[in-house]
Amino acid sequence: MSVKDKIDKLKIPQHVAIIMDGNGRWAKSHGKIRLSGHQEGAKSVKKALEVCGELGIKYLTVYAFSTENWNRPKTEISGLMNLLVSSIDKELDEINKLEIKIKIIGEIDKLPGNVRKKLQFAIEKTKNNSKLTFIVALSYSGRWDILNAVKKIAQKVKDNKMNVSDIDYNYFESQLATTGIPDPELLIRTSGEERISNFLLYQLAYAELFFTDVLWPDFSKEVFYQAIIDYQNRERRFGKTSEQITN
Ligand code: FPP
Repeated sequence: MSVKDKIDKLKIPQHVAIIMDGNGRWAKSHGKIRLSGHQEGAKSVKKALEVCGELGIKYLTVYAFSTENWNRPKTEISGLMNLLVSSIDKELDEINKLEIKIKIIGEIDKLPGNVRKKLQFAIEKTKNNSKLTFIVALSYSGRWDILNAVKKIAQKVKDNKMNVSDIDYNYFESQLATTGIPDPELLIRTSGEERISNFLLYQLAYAELFFTDVLWPDFSKEVFYQAIIDYQNRERRFGKTSEQITN
């Protein structure tokens, strides 16, 4: 029986989020520059998208560039930006064929003009696809997302467009970058680090966490299948007792 055959098709998560970590260490261990780790990592993104298509996962969010990543060497930042543009050029036809809709979350305004333009082009070209939504977090951090939502709401209250008593979870969530997207049920992080690192802080409240030592460029479909199986074996209680869930 293959790993994939062990997956319960009736318990597939709707939304999986991934912290793609370990590109630099992969490059170092292969005697290559950091950028080649990111290039190899882009191939793993493709594998992850294919698994989502195979299993019927509706949303995949990847952490491609954090707010903190702006502190990296300039050459690495520009290499990553160029990689985004070239990945879109190379893969957009295939993305459309697989009926994938692209969405970006993060401070898009901070990205270089050519990258913004290319991303907007890809968003426009894929906007009618509905099999899978691929959410790329770019210049994103969970704290930025929450702070941004708070500022938008505070402004509305200040302008007398709403009352403090109107602010409930639903409204707050509608002001986050992920508005309209269900919370991830599963977070995968590669490379052996076991942290959330300012990713979807609000949205991951009840996510199951799966950590693997595999470096992101070595990520395989089998690792993804194993994460799904692990997720399926967890008991998701949302604060209730085990008995309440079973009954
Ligand atoms: C973390 O590894 C990875 C990143 C900061 C970049 C991830 C980007 C890609 C995989 C590029 C392709 C993305 C798309 C959406 C096409 P690290 O550099 O922090 O690794 P290290 O911790 O080993 O140094």
